[in-house]
Amino acid sequence: MKPQVREALRRSRARDFSFAQGRILGSMCTLPHPAAVEAFTQFMETNLGDPELFPGTQELECKAVERLGHWLHAPAGMGGRMTSGGTESNLTALWIFTSLTGKREVVVPQHAHFSFAKAASLMQVKIKDLPLRNQVADARRLQQTLTPDTACVVGVAGTTNLGLVDPIEEMSEMCREEHVPLHVDAAFGGLVIPFLRSLGKTERRFDFELPGVSSVAVDPHKMGLSVIPSGMLLLREERWWEEIAVASACTHTQRQVSLLGTRPGGAAAATYAVLEELGWEGYREVVRSCMETTEYAARMVEEAGFSLAARPELNLLGVQVTHPQEVAARLSEKNWKVGVDPARGCIRIVCMPHVKKTLIDDFVSDLRSVTA
Ligand SMILES: Cc1ncc(COP(=O)(O)O)c(C=O)c1O
Repeated sequence: MKPQVREALRRSRARDFSFAQGRILGSMCTLPHPAAVEAFTQFMETNLGDPELFPGTQELECKAVERLGHWLHAPAGMGGRMTSGGTESNLTALWIFTSLTGKREVVVPQHAHFSFAKAASLMQVKIKDLPLRNQVADARRLQQTLTPDTACVVGVAGTTNLGLVDPIEEMSEMCREEHVPLHVDAAFGGLVIPFLRSLGKTERRFDFELPGVSSVAVDPHKMGLSVIPSGMLLLREERWWEEIAVASACTHTQRQVSLLGTRPGGAAAATYAVLEELGWEGYREVVRSCMETTEYAARMVEEAGFSLAARPELNLLGVQVTHPQEVAARLSEKNWKVGVDPARGCIRIVCMPHVKKTLIDDFVSDLRSVTA
């Protein structure tokens, strides 16, 4: 590389924040695991959009899908693909279910991620709001929200703002009775809840063990410690993918079954590598540690006189402050990057693996001073 190019890169990168330096509290991403970085580098040139050229990479995608599918109780006959993240997974799920059913309405809880608004706009789908009760989707109101034109219902396992889990069990029951597909957006919670359950810290069920769940979105580039862009969409039935198949004469495989054309094989290799490297026990330890930090943060914040918007179910806290945008701006002057949730009057702290207790101590001290 020319020295001046290297220098330009260095200067630009120096302007960025880094998860390694720690003061990022409002992101669902984190420092990727070294195994993911190594695999990503090795597979950088590979393209899953043309798997005839890269059968080895495709095999790694299949293995990653199999492993995550197994952890999420996916039945035999399921089918999954890597995506670029939660947005693409959610969009693809709605694309598949509107095509499969020929219907044009989607029931979405009011706190769902904005990717559903993008999907609705792009596909001219009508969003029917499912109201909240006690801050999660009100399953009792689901039936009255369904119409003969409902293509699918969305439930969220790990909400973006507060990390809460919708009553997926009740939603699954109703969707099964009404023969409506249920898509679970577990972009964040999909790699948290299974381990919390195994630690005895939650009893929430949200995945394919519930018979009404048709699809699950889970993001390895969030709590999976993989590289960006790593998402995954799992469908209860592999054959449903056929709904979005198109002929692609210019690729060696002649057809594609994905929203993206060229797809980063490096992300699949990285996800496979970190799933293998950490395994169930490794992730369980990551989640145990993140929850311990979350509980510590909750205690410190409350002791400092702030209220939480909800008891944290996952490793995410909403801290109530007056004028959250102003508070976030003042924190930003001290190099803290927090999320803002103006609707709930909160700043939002995600206790990702790079967030340690000492960091929480420094943060709470600065939070006190900027709100004094
Ligand atoms: C619940 C949920 N779903 C979907 C997404 C979108 O994920 P991405 O930004 O990877 O597209 C997010 C992102 O924060 C999320 O929290």
